[in-house]
Amino acid sequence: MASSPSDYKLSFGLWTVGWTAQDQFGSSSRPAFEPWEYLPKLKEAGASGVTFHDDDVAPFGTDDTEREKYFSRFKEAADQVGLKVEMLTTNTFSHPVFKDGGLTSNDRSVRRFGLRKLLRNVDRAAEFGAETFVMWGGREGSEYDNAKDLNAAHARYAEGIDTVASYIKEKGYNLRIGLEPKPNEPRGDILLPTIGHALGFIAELEHGDIVGLNPETGHEQMAGLNFTHGIAQALWAGKLFHIDLNGQRSIKYDQDLVFGHGDLTSAFFTIDLLTNGFPNGGPTYDGWLHFDYKPSRTDYVQGIWDSARANTEMVTMLADKAKAYRADPEVQAAFETAGIFDLAEPTLAEGESLSDLLADPSAYEQFDVEKAAERNFGFVQLNQLALKHLIG
Ligand code: GCO
Ligand code: MN
Ligand code: MN
Ligand code: MN
Repeated sequence: MASSPSDYKLSFGLWTVGWTAQDQFGSSSRPAFEPWEYLPKLKEAGASGVTFHDDDVAPFGTDDTEREKYFSRFKEAADQVGLKVEMLTTNTFSHPVFKDGGLTSNDRSVRRFGLRKLLRNVDRAAEFGAETFVMWGGREGSEYDNAKDLNAAHARYAEGIDTVASYIKEKGYNLRIGLEPKPNEPRGDILLPTIGHALGFIAELEHGDIVGLNPETGHEQMAGLNFTHGIAQALWAGKLFHIDLNGQRSIKYDQDLVFGHGDLTSAFFTIDLLTNGFPNGGPTYDGWLHFDYKPSRTDYVQGIWDSARANTEMVTMLADKAKAYRADPEVQAAFETAGIFDLAEPTLAEGESLSDLLADPSAYEQFDVEKAAERNFGFVQLNQLALKHLIG
């Protein structure tokens, strides 16, 4: 039976459907609505959660009394519609004060301001009952390699993240930080450009236990990387805290297409992993499937809601196909042939020591390399079966 959006935890950033389509070359092509006006339509499109930047709800510079009004009105509307605010994030990139970064600006006074804006938003996240605090460092980076002391920049970045994490712990909030890697745009090069860089960075933190990742499909693909491999490594490391799904076609500017409208095969395997897990078990993802896309500038208001629906539909369709793919006996046999299940067996036997391995002639001296080299893994056939399920 076909699944429906309510079978999954699907959420949207308010800034996605709220994007009025201004770009580098042109002004807005769609009207803006009040933040709460998007909520009923998001629910209709299949969402059960919504997320936002502080400034998406209360514009930058709004005074404190007005701010509280904006947030309470939004909270009321979200409760009424039945959308959970599952994640909050902070805008440390739009105002020109952040042009050289929020946590890694060469200007210390900007870094102190950025940190205060972040800490204030941590309180807001807790107030809304969010579980994840995403930190995308869009302006943390440079256009020129000599614009920063790159050692100091990483030290300041770590200092900033650790300060936010220690604040969360001090307050006892049920909140985890999700770092969001991106290789470039808006900066020429952004620090922590990929999942791998971010994992290495987290390992150096003092409070890295509550710091993980919010990887985005298109961001890894902008760097020519395999998104499914990336989230798999994050899962293996216990660091896949949240995810941004969208579509990207090859190495170019950030396209923010609907999920699946970029590399469809990759989207299929991403959903297969997220909903069915690894073939041999292991860590699974039970977090939100969050869409961070943009309705194309060519589409007007109707297009906002058609594209939002397209995202939730892609997840349900791909998940149904991935389920049938895994359940197909022919696929299971192809898994067998391919050695998928054998990879779960440790290379050294239980209790086998290194000297046992060195003393085992069957592992080396008597090993028939020519025969082993003749093995047909059948990966092409396995992939063909996957594509039959995807297209069929
Ligand atoms: C982008 C990023 C952002 C972040 C958002 C949440 O390419 O602009 O993906 O959309 O996800 O700012 O922190
Ligand atoms: Mn993005
Ligand atoms: Mn983007
Ligand atoms: Mn994103």
